Amino acid sequence: MRAWAAEGLALVCALCCALARGSEDIVVGCGGFVKSDVEINYSLIEIKLYTKHGTLKYQTDCAPNNGYFMIPLYDKGDFILKIEPPLGWSFEPTSVDIHVDGINDVCTKGGDINFVFTGFSVNGKVLSKGQTLGPAGVQVVLRNAGSDINIQATVTQPGGKFAFFKVLPGEYEIFASHPTWMLKESNTVVRVTSSNAYAASPLIVAGYNVSGSVRSDGEPMKGVMFLLFSSSVTKEDVVGCNISPVDGFQSRDESLSYLCNVVSKEDGSFSFLSLPSGKYTVIPFYRGERITFDVAPSRLDFLVEHDSLQIEPVFHVMGFSVTGRVLNGPEGEGVADATVTLNNQIKVKTKADGSFRLENITTGTYTIHARKEHLFFDTITVKIAPNTPQLANIIATGFSVCGRISVTRFPDTVKQISKYKVTMMPQDKDKASLFTTETDPHGAFCFKAKSGIYNVQVRMSFRFFIAGLS
Ligand SMILES: *[C@@H]1O[C@H](CO)[C@@H](O)[C@H](O)[C@H]1NC(C)=O
Ligand SMILES: *[C@@H]1O[C@H](CO)[C@@H](O)[C@H](O)[C@H]1NC(C)=O
Repeated sequence: MRAWAAEGLALVCALCCALARGSEDIVVGCGGFVKSDVEINYSLIEIKLYTKHGTLKYQTDCAPNNGYFMIPLYDKGDFILKIEPPLGWSFEPTSVDIHVDGINDVCTKGGDINFVFTGFSVNGKVLSKGQTLGPAGVQVVLRNAGSDINIQATVTQPGGKFAFFKVLPGEYEIFASHPTWMLKESNTVVRVTSSNAYAASPLIVAGYNVSGSVRSDGEPMKGVMFLLFSSSVTKEDVVGCNISPVDGFQSRDESLSYLCNVVSKEDGSFSFLSLPSGKYTVIPFYRGERITFDVAPSRLDFLVEHDSLQIEPVFHVMGFSVTGRVLNGPEGEGVADATVTLNNQIKVKTKADGSFRLENITTGTYTIHARKEHLFFDTITVKIAPNTPQLANIIATGFSVCGRISVTRFPDTVKQISKYKVTMMPQDKDKASLFTTETDPHGAFCFKAKSGIYNVQVRMSFRFFIAGLS
C-alpha cells in the first residue's frame, strides 16, 4: 500500500466514523510525520505497525515530499508503531506504544505521532599495518573539523570496524588512540551529506606489544637476551628493541633475518614494545663472560595478529655451558685433543686451540680432570655457578721425559745387561727432587717431570750412549 497523501485524511476519517456507527469495529488513522532539519530521502523510510506480540499488522512508506504517513486501524488494542529507516539512520523515538481505546488515544483524537531524524552513521576501520583486518579496543573519537572537542567516542569491534551514529551533515575529523599500541595513521576525515558516510581512509596500528618471561629454578631471571627474527617483517617496522647485532651469537637458521633483541628485567620479563602483525621467531641467548646458559625452549615461533601477545610458555634457564682451555704451560699453548672429564661422567675433547665446552651444567662443585698422552694434569675441584663464570685454564703440571738406552757394543768381559737404573735431577742440584727409574727390557724409560732443565744419568760403571731422549 502506498503512502497516503495528507489530503486523503479527511476522507478516511469520514469513512471511519460511518463504519464505527454500524459495528463494534472502529477505523481510525494513526498518522504523523517523519521530521528532519536536514535533507533526507523520505521514500527510504518505512513505518510499521506491530501487535504487542510482534506480529506485523500494517506497513507504509512516508510521503516523499514531507515525510507524512498514515496507518489505518480496524481494532482496539495495544500496538507498537515503529520507524524502520535504512541501516545507520537514527530517529527519536524509534518506536511508540499505542493503546487504542477508541476514545482517548492519540490516534482516535487525531494527534500526530512524529519521528525526528537525529543523524546518519559514520563508518570506518582501524587496521593492523599491512593487513586487511584490525584490532578490537582502539578508541576512536569524532570531532567537528578544526575543533578539539570530542563530540563522540567509541571503540573498535573485533576486525577493527567502528561506527558513529546520529551524525548530522558536516565536515568531521576522526582520531584513533590506544594506551599501548602505536598508531601509524591516527587521524582521518569524513564528510557527511545526505546519507551514511565512510571515513576517507583507514587508521593504522603500527604494532603491538609482545612480552614473555624467563625463570631459573623458579626464580625470575634477569639479563637473558631474546633475539627476534622474522622472514616477513623488516627492521624498520619494529620499535622499542635494540637492533644492533649480538656478539658471539651464531644463528643456525639462515632463512630467518635478525631484527633486534631485548633483555629480561629484574622480574624476569622481557618485552618488545611494538611489533607489526606477522610471524616471528624468538631465540633466547644468555652468556656470561665464559658461560653460555642453555635456555629452554631454545627457540619459539609466534604470531602477532591484532592484539598484544604474551609469549607462552615461560622460558627456563636449564643449565649453562662452560668453556675452558687446556694449556701446556702457564703462558703456554692450547693442547689439542685432550680429554676433559667432569665428575668422571661428562667427557669432551679439546679443539685445536685447546678450548672445550661443557653443556647443560647446573650449579655445583665439580672435579675436572684433563688427560693427554705425555702430559700430566692435576685434578681440579671447582665450584661452577652462573655468578662465578670463570673456569680457569687447565694447565699441564708435568710432562713425560722418555728415552731409550742403546748400548752399541758391550765389552767382551761384561755380560749382557737388559735393565738399567736411570736417574734424573734438576740442574739446580736440589737433591730432594732426584727421580729414579728403571728401563724396560728394551731399554726404554720415562719420567714424569715439571718443566725445567734436568740432567739424566744412567748408573753404570762403564761407558754407554744415550739415544732418543725426548
Ligand atoms: C530516494 O530513494 C528512492 C528509492 O531508492 C530513489 O528512487 C529516489 O531517487 C531517491 N531520491 C532522492 C532525492 O535521492
Ligand atoms: C602491553 O602493554 C600494556 C601497558 O604497558 C601492559 O599492561 C600489558 O600487559 C602489555 N601486554 C603484553 C602482552 O605485553
